[in-house]
Amino acid sequence: MSAERTQVGIVGAGPAGLVLSHLLALEGIESVVLEARSREYVEHRVRAGVLEHGTVELLREAGVGERLQREGLVHHGLELRFGGAGHRIVLSDLTDGRTITVYGQQEVVKDLIAARLDAGGDLRFEASAVSVHGLDSERPAIRFTHDGAERDLRCDVIAGCDGFHGICRDAIPAGVLAAYEREYPFAWLGILAEVAPSAEELIYCHHDRGFALHSMRSPKLTRLYLQCEPDEDLDAWPDERIWEELQTRLATDDGFRLGSGPIVEKGITPMRSFVVEPLQHARLYLAGDAAHIVPPTGAKGLNLAVADVRVLGEALAAWYRSGATELLQAYSDTCLRRVWRVQHFSWWMTQMLHRFAGDDPFEARLQRSQLAYVTSSRAAATTLAENYVGLARV
Ligand code: APR
Ligand code: PHB
Repeated sequence: MSAERTQVGIVGAGPAGLVLSHLLALEGIESVVLEARSREYVEHRVRAGVLEHGTVELLREAGVGERLQREGLVHHGLELRFGGAGHRIVLSDLTDGRTITVYGQQEVVKDLIAARLDAGGDLRFEASAVSVHGLDSERPAIRFTHDGAERDLRCDVIAGCDGFHGICRDAIPAGVLAAYEREYPFAWLGILAEVAPSAEELIYCHHDRGFALHSMRSPKLTRLYLQCEPDEDLDAWPDERIWEELQTRLATDDGFRLGSGPIVEKGITPMRSFVVEPLQHARLYLAGDAAHIVPPTGAKGLNLAVADVRVLGEALAAWYRSGATELLQAYSDTCLRRVWRVQHFSWWMTQMLHRFAGDDPFEARLQRSQLAYVTSSRAAATTLAENYVGLARV
């Protein structure tokens, strides 16, 4: 079997793996990224679309923010809608001018792939990691298949950026990781439609029939979500039913009209909270969805993945520069502080906005009270705003 060698072996070319590879290259550290899917597939997978202030800054400072700055939609606020009325949360007023940027995850992925390839980076698509070896040694290795052959990639360290269904987390010996998990009794049915957004900002809507979200990708593309059953059958949702249900939930007393158009993408997003601790074992470091999942209500998945690899990139840079291990040893604890803050925020947004099975009237009144408070108290709105735009320090 042929063996190759690199400094950092990265499994997965999602946002975590690609940003890490890019940050390492800026520090003069070599990496190889192994991605099971094709380039075409990862560049067109429709996912999240809200970038925190700090994520945008990092991408810009790293030299991959040019198109993002040109095409990204900067938002200064968002709307919470309930009881037939909208309430604006002015994010930038509550956070010293911080904003969020709407820019599809797959666009971030495209920009990063282009930047890595332009710089001569080693990205291998349709290269599936099958196992990792020698984690306790100084030369851990990733066994992968590519072009029909099985090979080993020997590295100094391995970054498991292979998402929730990857192989790296499971390669850690039993008993090392503790998992914390919550499944929600609902999912989101998401669509992408060729129609101008019906509002300038995101609308998070609490309704007796369930949650709805109005988002967007560009001045001509609207992204919309509906709370649905976890095992919802997409075939039961012809386009007309989706538009009707969205219009019903997003309706306001002053006659909000949702524009409709051809639906170009349709899918179900499961809702789950998940964290493993610690994020590291010997020479394997987990980052992004490989280590944690948040429900999408807080728009945090991508941002958290980027926050992890920023910490990992800095720690690896310090290690290669001087042999210092402090930052690497602190990697898991440093990331977990943010992970749990974001877990709490995502859970809090989720429980405030969704309809829960059983329709407990006590719970429903608590939700309304919480929404009324968040939209009337500057202190409460600030809590939402500073978490939503992203906390600089956690
Ligand atoms: N070998 C190689 N690649 C793999 C393997 C494997 N065995 N298993 C999984 N992968 C790849 C997947 O194909 C995917 O492209 O790892 C990548 C992981 O990317 P993401 O799932 O995008 O995860 P991450 O980079 O952590 O980004 C988190 O993605 O799921 C969204 O909402 C989430 O925005 C968040 C972000
Ligand atoms: C999206 O635009 O896809 C989106 C926006 C906000 C969320 C989740 C998803 O909370």
